[in-house]
Amino acid sequence: MIDRLLDVAVTAARAAGEFLVDSRPASLRVATKSTPTDVVTQMDTAAERLIARYIHDARPGDAILGEEGQASTDVTDVRAGRDGRAGRVRWLVDPIDGTVNYLYALPQWAVSIAAEVDGVVEAGVVFDPSKGELFAAVRGGGAQLNGEPIEVSGCEDLSLALIGTGFGYDARRRARQSQVLTGVVPIVRDIRRLGAASLDLCALACARLDGYYERGLNLWDYAAAGLVATEAGARVGGLHGRPASGELFVAATPAVFDPLHQLLAGLEADRD
Ligand code: IPD
Repeated sequence: MIDRLLDVAVTAARAAGEFLVDSRPASLRVATKSTPTDVVTQMDTAAERLIARYIHDARPGDAILGEEGQASTDVTDVRAGRDGRAGRVRWLVDPIDGTVNYLYALPQWAVSIAAEVDGVVEAGVVFDPSKGELFAAVRGGGAQLNGEPIEVSGCEDLSLALIGTGFGYDARRRARQSQVLTGVVPIVRDIRRLGAASLDLCALACARLDGYYERGLNLWDYAAAGLVATEAGARVGGLHGRPASGELFVAATPAVFDPLHQLLAGLEADRD
């Protein structure tokens, strides 16, 4: 069953990625969401509808939670598998992770699709159309990039680690995130802010980064890529033994995780 879920995610992610490249209009219509800098375009909503159609055709009756709310169905009763029905599937869809990059025609954006069964992410796909890279993982089955196995780097030293991060859309939260960053920059090799959390986590998975952290992510930003990173050998978590979540998402090579965690805990990176 899980392989079938992965197939559906791969087909839908590729179709959406091709649509987003081939049908991109000369000018995008931009609306705003939580703040004036948190944007959505007609291409985000159209791609989400396209993905939902693929999922509904392949698996009618599954629930879908999409970033743009175009596809969301039957979400509350299956959240965390609490409806009591075994084997319930919920799809977590970000049609464009890195919308601001897409808007500015920068290449770092991706389509992200995860399949959760009874509240556990079992399969995840992140498709980066600009590079033609498809990251995929099933729980317990390792992670692949374009069909080839990938693993995290061997980095063991936080001071030599290249760390990715990102910022939320709320000005107050950003001010706090900037304070945290000033505590991180002197301690690590350097920082990267690519602009798409899913691609940050996939970069960690294939040794292009050694660690990543961010506060304020949504489930659709990290569900698929979190599985890809974990299956590639990353350690993933929140602070003080809590699971990785919107509160704080920390991921790194096994040896870098503890010192990065300690640094972020000292900086209270899970607080606004
Ligand atoms: C955003 C990107 C960004 C991260 C933000 C996310 P969106 O997702 O992943 O890198 O810093 O926290 O919200 O809005 O482009 O789908």
